[in-house]
Amino acid sequence: WAIHAPYVRAINQLKAERGAVILGHNYMTPEIYHGISDFVGDSLQLAIEATRTDADVIVQCGVHFMAETSKILSPDKTVLMPDMGAGCSLAESITAEGIAQMRAKYPGAPVVSYVNTTAEVKAASDICCTSSNAAQIVAAMPEHTIIMTPDQYLAQNVAAQVPQKNVVWWEGSCIVHEQYSARDLRDFREWNPGTRLIAHPECPPDVVAEADFSGSTSGIIDYVTREKPEKALLITECSMASNIADALPEVDFVGPCNMCPYMKKITLEKVLYALDTMTGQVEVDPTVAQRARLAVQRMIDLSR
Ligand code: 13P
Ligand code: SF4
Repeated sequence: WAIHAPYVRAINQLKAERGAVILGHNYMTPEIYHGISDFVGDSLQLAIEATRTDADVIVQCGVHFMAETSKILSPDKTVLMPDMGAGCSLAESITAEGIAQMRAKYPGAPVVSYVNTTAEVKAASDICCTSSNAAQIVAAMPEHTIIMTPDQYLAQNVAAQVPQKNVVWWEGSCIVHEQYSARDLRDFREWNPGTRLIAHPECPPDVVAEADFSGSTSGIIDYVTREKPEKALLITECSMASNIADALPEVDFVGPCNMCPYMKKITLEKVLYALDTMTGQVEVDPTVAQRARLAVQRMIDLSR
């Protein structure tokens, strides 16, 4: 911690001078999560916070689609992205053209796009969802056939939860969660009996079926905080366990975990540089933003 202290002090001071708020995703490193974030959460919570904050500047400690979502919801605010290269394999897997192809293949079916998409894709969609509300959103759609993009695994997990719907999907995946297999989980249980296995819904469905619980990043934190299992394996990004381990000394967080190379592009040095120079401002074409806002706002309204 001592090595981070000068950066944490400088960022917190500059943040106050600039009237900025830092929104930190649950996958941020502990020094960002605990040291400089004013608000931490999963994708849905960060999006809602972007609509509520009265700060002039939002520094998004997360990946690019999250910063775009903040800008879409708060077009008059300055949204800073400490590293524009912090992408997401899911957001990169589909374009607005892909949405058009799905609509042509399934005429009349509404498009539910994961927030892990670009503003253009959101603008081409009917409604967005996150991992914490995907099943609720799909269940609320009046149509029988629902197109879910771009995460094939989230879509398949939702299909299992909402069997009354015919869910069809795009073939995207998350490079962090697709690496887990059901076999890994079975082996783990055999070698480490008594460990609670907790998976993010971006994992393949057989992994989720093998797990004891599945939920969004904040859903996972709430579950572990509530249940306090003796041993827990978080089948998700590595920083999750690091961020909550101190608050839960009774839980033994066991490995392995997978690192998201995009999330890990965000560092204290880059946050300080962005705030100091006010560079890395996220812009979204106003026409695209207006249409994308409808899809995101519909999701927020349905999730209340
Ligand atoms: P959450 O909405 O669960 O925080 O997920 C975001 C994400 O990118 C997980 O990989
Ligand atoms: Fe995208 Fe996966 Fe990284 Fe989340 S963990 S930002 S879904 S690549």
